[in-house]
This record gives sequence, structure tokens and C-alpha cells, in this order.
Amino acid sequence: MSLLVNSNTIGAGAEEARGHSGGGALREIYDVNAQVVSVAVVPGEVYRAKLVAPEIARSARPLQFVNVEVSQGPHPFLRRPFSLSWFSAAEGLIEITWAVVGEGSKIMTQWETGTEVRVLGPLGNGFSLKDIKGEALQNADRPRLWLVGGGTGLLPMYPLAKEAASQGWEVALFYGARSMAQVMDTSRFVKAGCRVIVATEDGTYGSRGRVTDLLEPVIPELGHEDVIVACGPVPMLRSVKNLMALSAAPLYVSLESRMACGTGLCKGCAVRAAGDEEKYYHVCSDGPVFRADQVELGGAP
Ligand SMILES: Cc1cc2nc3c(=O)[nH]c(=O)nc-3n(C[C@H](O)[C@H](O)[C@H](O)COP(=O)(O)OP(=O)(O)OC[C@H]3O[C@@H](n4cnc5c(N)ncnc54)[C@H](O)[C@@H]3O)c2cc1C
Ligand code: FES
Repeated sequence: MSLLVNSNTIGAGAEEARGHSGGGALREIYDVNAQVVSVAVVPGEVYRAKLVAPEIARSARPLQFVNVEVSQGPHPFLRRPFSLSWFSAAEGLIEITWAVVGEGSKIMTQWETGTEVRVLGPLGNGFSLKDIKGEALQNADRPRLWLVGGGTGLLPMYPLAKEAASQGWEVALFYGARSMAQVMDTSRFVKAGCRVIVATEDGTYGSRGRVTDLLEPVIPELGHEDVIVACGPVPMLRSVKNLMALSAAPLYVSLESRMACGTGLCKGCAVRAAGDEEKYYHVCSDGPVFRADQVELGGAP
């Protein structure tokens, strides 16, 4: 089954909030039975599964996500959102990678090759470098993309990193985890041509500290030829936003929130617009990527 959605009509202000022109056209969303072709526990204490979903793989963009029906029974009732950590239109495959945090993600650990799962997607507007306006970027010899990922916030970044590197962008990934056990494999980023710098809070892998400690020293270097995309827990995003306050480089944040429908209908994933107490965006349909200056990320870090 497929349905057509228009990002401008689902989420008023979507274009404005994202600060780029990715939406507007009709997008197709598919609700499919996807078969699991591989599933494994991978470094970082996460599970990774590839599923056959040609329709979703064909129309997916970096930083989009899918809503997964984790149980065919009545509980848990709601589907769970997971980013596309990889997809291949040519192979008709999508990949999701997840940390076990509660009932739904635990049920998913029982998947095996051949399991069929109901999946809705691709959801959200995603983010593509083609969407970013700006003369400086268009004219840059080698524009730079700086990815800042905290915890599972690393997961949606790979399709974007790959797209950017293949288009001649210089790509650096700053990635932070709590400890070595939670450090996920970044070798696919390295293979794609990205520079990867890792920090752990306890110093057991990479440098000791938070991912924002990695970012801070490079901020004075950043200018109009740079784009920063951050994904991770809200306190991390807030710190990145604060650090970048005086920088000329645009900062985009990819948000997570509790979700139900994933398509803009239930209004359950609202985030407040910056500077306007009465205006809200919806993470699933206006986002999940927003210009950082358009959304309220709360007070001091
Ligand atoms: C757009 C989007 C993309 C996501 N991508 C990934 C991904 O690629 N990999 C991954 O591991 N997780 C991802 N998440 C988070 C994932 O959806 C939740 O971990 C999952 O829904 C938890 O379901 P559960 O039934 O296991 O836990 P629940 O029993 O529902 O909750 C357990 C705990 O997790 C917290 N939690 C649940 N859902 C969320 C959420 N959406 N955001 C923040 N905290 C939450 C709850 O507050 C609670 O403390 C994403 C979330 C969104 C909105
Ligand atoms: S999850 Fe329903 S509106 Fe976003």
C-alpha cells in the first residue's frame, strides 16, 4: 500500500523550519511487508538488520526513517521509528540499526532471517546536500560537511556522509559515546572517505570527553563553505547550538521525539518553534532535520 503526502501541507512551515527546499513535491510513503535478510549484533551494543523493501529503498533520502510494527499482537500498539542507517535502491534493501531500550526494541531482537515485518516509510523529509542553498556553498572548491553524532545519533549520518563524499565534499565525523562498549563501527564512514574523530566520556576509546569537546576547537575555522549536521540527545544538540552561536556556518539538527503515526496526523511529536511560544513543528513531517535556529532546544546545557 502506498500513500502520497506533501510535506508543505502536512506540516505548515516545513520549508521555513528546515531552511532548505527539500519538500514541496508529493512524496510517496509505502506500507510494506519487509522480509529480514540479515540480522546481527554489531559493535556498540546495537542490533543491525537488512530488510527487503524495494519501494522504500528507491525513494529514500539521507536522514529519513521508517516506522516499524514490532508486534503483530496488540502490544506494543504503536510502531517504533528507526532511521535508515543504510539503503540501496539497486539492491532493494534498507537497513536499520537499533539499541535495546524498551519493550519494542527488545522484541526486535527476536528477528531472524525470513521474519516478515510491517514497515512504513520512507518518513520525514530527510536531508540532501542538493537542498542547501547558498552562493558560498555553490561556489566553494571543496565545501565541507561536519557531522556531529552522539550515541545512536550516529546512525542516520552514513547515507549523508556517503552522498557528500561522492560529490566531492570534504567530510568529517565527530562522534561521541559514553564508553568503549557503546562505540559503534565507523569503518564504513572511513571507507567512504570521511575523517572520523571519536571521543568517549570515560576516555576508554578515542579522546576523553564529549563530542562537543571535539567540535569546539574547530569552530573558529568554520565559515560559509561549511555545513554542520548534528544528531543525538537534545542536551548535546543544545550544546552544539550554543557553541555555534557566533559561527557563520549553518547548523542543522536532526531531532528525535516520541512518535505515533510518523506522518503528521496525530500531532504527537511537536517541538516548539524558536522564539514563538505558540508555534510548533512536527518532527515526523516538518523534520526530522531542522535549521537549529528555528527550533527550541531548551535552556542552558
Ligand atoms: C526519527 C527517529 C529516528 C530514530 N532512529 C533510531 C535509530 O536509528 N536507532 C535507535 O536505536 N533508535 C532510534 N530512535 C529511537 C527509537 O525510536 C526508540 O528507541 C524506540 O522507539 C524505543 O522503543 P521501545 O519500545 O524499545 O522503548 P519504549 O518502551 O517505548 O521506551 C523505552 C525508553 O526509551 C525512551 N524513548 C522511546 N522512544 C524514544 C524516542 N523516540 N526518542 C527518545 N527516547 C525515546 C523512552 O523515554 C523510555 O525511556 C529514533 C527515533 C526517532 C523519532
Ligand atoms: S508522530 Fe504523529 S504527527 Fe508526528
